[in-house]
Amino acid sequence: MLLASADPVAIKLACRILAQGGLVAIPTETVYGLAASLQREDALKKIYQVKGRPSSHPLIVHAADLVQVHSLVTRFPQAAEKLAAAFWPGPLTLVLPRSREVPDCITAGHSTVGIRIPKHPLALQLLRELGTPLAAPSANRFTQVSPTRAAHVAVDLGQELDLILDGGPCEVGVESTVLDLTGPVPILLRPGGISREALEFVLESKIAEPGSQFPAAPSPGQHHLHYSPRAKVRIAEPAEVWGSAQRLAEAGQRVRVFTSHPPPAACQLPACCDYWLWSADLQAVARELYARLRQADLDQVAVLLVELPAPSGLGLALADRLRRAAGQGSSLTAE
Ligand code: TXA
Ligand code: MG
Repeated sequence: MLLASADPVAIKLACRILAQGGLVAIPTETVYGLAASLQREDALKKIYQVKGRPSSHPLIVHAADLVQVHSLVTRFPQAAEKLAAAFWPGPLTLVLPRSREVPDCITAGHSTVGIRIPKHPLALQLLRELGTPLAAPSANRFTQVSPTRAAHVAVDLGQELDLILDGGPCEVGVESTVLDLTGPVPILLRPGGISREALEFVLESKIAEPGSQFPAAPSPGQHHLHYSPRAKVRIAEPAEVWGSAQRLAEAGQRVRVFTSHPPPAACQLPACCDYWLWSADLQAVARELYARLRQADLDQVAVLLVELPAPSGLGLALADRLRRAAGQGSSLTAE
């Protein structure tokens, strides 16, 4: 495995590796991706092996521009036009009817494809120079926490990759929003970097949720346990969080609390309990969250007690990921 920082030589090397069927971890604005060329079926299959991901889960495709996007789909509805104009390049994946340019091995047998144009300058430059779209799921093993730093990828998958491009810490820190545009009404398959409110504002209409009256494209990334550290994640109500922390710590557990308010003065915390005080700025929380989940494991934390942010704006994606880390899938889809 080679770790290269962002320069023109590294991009050229990445292009050569990808064209020859290798795997390259790439920075995106959301999380690091595990990328293979859409023209290399051997490499696409390797993605599934390296991640340990079931072949029934489709991969999303990253495109350089709208010309590439159009080659991958048979229909680009008006809603897609509006959303692409507002949010691409950016953290929004659109599920659309796929063309024959999309290899069968990444679609899990569906007639759709999830596509986005990423915003990270290194990812865009690589896509432009390569001239071929890239399939890239998050560069983590199946059900584990997504990487938001090059070092996370190196620790998790370094032995199995040909190259990791280091583009610094990810600017958004949670995955893209996945929106199904194949039916009569847009359906939110995964909350992410673009909020539901922003999508509805641009579309000037409501979007639905899976399981509502509208049929959604099957999105088998649904997994109730995901984004999971080894520490046990427990959701706590704000009013109960410090009482619970104290009880667990007094019982000898190594406890960490993710919370919006510090412990009350009367609360005598044992030394085996500490906390991360969330900023009110949810973008800052999102940038840090996955690194914090990983750090909890490095620190051998046994129980992570987390308060959920209110489920609006970026809070919807954060609450979704924390619920999944706790093994409680929300009603929304994610992988
Ligand atoms: O931010 C992101 O989206 C990152 C970066 C690397 O771009 N990628 C990512 O990929 O999170 P992945 O594979 O870990 O998650 C993609 C999600 C999964 O839940 C998958 O099931 C869903 O998108 N998905 C992909 N293609 C789909 C399709 N054709 N129909 C429905 N859902 C799809
Ligand atoms: Mg993933």
